[in-house]
Amino acid sequence: PNPERERLLQAYEWTAKFYHFLLKNTEHGKAAMDYLRSRGFNDKVIDQFQIGFAPDRWDTLVQFLTKRSFDLHEMEKGGLLTKRLDSEDFLDRFRGRIMFPIHDRNGKIIAFAGRILGDGQPKYLNSPESKLFNKSRILYNLHQAKPSIRKLRQIVLFEGYGDVISAWEAGVQNGVATMGTSLTESHAVLMKTMSDEVVICYDGDRAGQAAAMKSIPLLEGVGLSVRISVLIEGLDPDEFIRKYGADRFNRQMIDGAVSTTKFKLIYLKKNHILLEEDGKIAYTKEVLPIIAALPSSTEREVYLKELASELQLSFESLKQDCNEIRQSMQKNM
Ligand code: GTP
Ligand code: MN
Ligand code: MN
Ligand code: MN
Ligand code: MN
Repeated sequence: PNPERERLLQAYEWTAKFYHFLLKNTEHGKAAMDYLRSRGFNDKVIDQFQIGFAPDRWDTLVQFLTKRSFDLHEMEKGGLLTKRLDSEDFLDRFRGRIMFPIHDRNGKIIAFAGRILGDGQPKYLNSPESKLFNKSRILYNLHQAKPSIRKLRQIVLFEGYGDVISAWEAGVQNGVATMGTSLTESHAVLMKTMSDEVVICYDGDRAGQAAAMKSIPLLEGVGLSVRISVLIEGLDPDEFIRKYGADRFNRQMIDGAVSTTKFKLIYLKKNHILLEEDGKIAYTKEVLPIIAALPSSTEREVYLKELASELQLSFESLKQDCNEIRQSMQKNM
C-alpha cells in the first residue's frame, strides 16, 4: 500500500463524482448538458460513463479539494490541478470541459479526458501521465467491457470516447479506445490476454484509415486475428450510429468488418486512378506482394480473382506475377 497513491485515487474518485454532480444538477452544467443531449447522449448513458462537467472557472476544484484537506501540491503532481507560472497559486487543470473519467481495468478512476464545450483547441485535454496513469497501457472502458470481451473473445477498438459510448448504447459492449494516441505494443499484449480477435473500428477519414494500417501489424504481431470496419462517407462510428442506427451499425460495421487483406486493397486503391493504364499497373505492383505473402493458396486465389475482375485483367497473368513475387520472397527469407 502506497499512501500517496491511495490519496490520489480517492481524489480522482471524489472529483469525478463532483464533476458528474455539477453537470447534472447545477446551473454551471446546463450548457454542457444541452450539448450532450443534442448529440444524443441520454441520462442513462451519462450515468453509466460518469460523464461530468468542469466549470469555466479557476478554482472550483481547488476549493473542493481544499475543503477535503487534500495536499494541493500532491494534487498538482497527480494532474488534477496546475500552477500559475508566476506564482504559487494552484488552479484547476480542467476548465469549461466535459469530463470523461478514465478507469483502470479494475474500475478505479486514474485520469480524465476533458472535451471542450463547442469549438476550440485542444479539443481534448487529457490528464498528464502520473503515478496512476500511463496512457500507453490504458484502454478506455476496459473495466466495463471485460465481461463481454471474455464471452465473445473479441474486442472492438475505437478511436474516440464518443464512439465507445454510442457503440455501447447500440449493443456493442466489448468496445474500448486508446487515449487519443496510437496503439502500442503493450495495448496489443493486453488485448491478447483476454481475446482472440480485434475489430478495428476507426474513423472513416483518411487519418483513421492510415491509423488502422499501422495498428494491423501490431495486433497480428501478438497473434490476434484482425478485421477492419470500413466506415463510409468519412463518418466516425458515433456519427454512423446516429445517422443509420444501431442495427445497421452491428450488421454492416461489426459483422461486416473485412479481412486485413481486403482492407489493404481498398486502402491502397485510393492512391491510383484505375481507369488509366499507369494507375492499374502501379496499383497491381503495390497489392501483389500483399497477396503473394498470404500463406494459403486458396486465399491468394480469392483475392487474385477479385483483383482480376476489378481491373479487367486475366487471372492467369496476375497469378503468374504473384507466383514470381512469392518465389523471390521465399528466396530472400
Ligand atoms: P467528438 O468531436 O467529440 O466526436 O470527438 P472524436 O472522438 O470524434 O474526435 P476525433 O475523431 O477528432 O479524435 C479521436 C480521438 O483522438 C479523441 O477521442 C481523442 O481521444 C483524441 N483527440 C482528438 N483531438 C485531440 C486533442 O486535441 N488532444 C488530445 N490529447 N487528444 C485528441
Ligand atoms: Mn481531431
Ligand atoms: Mn478523427
Ligand atoms: Mn466524433
Ligand atoms: Mn472521431
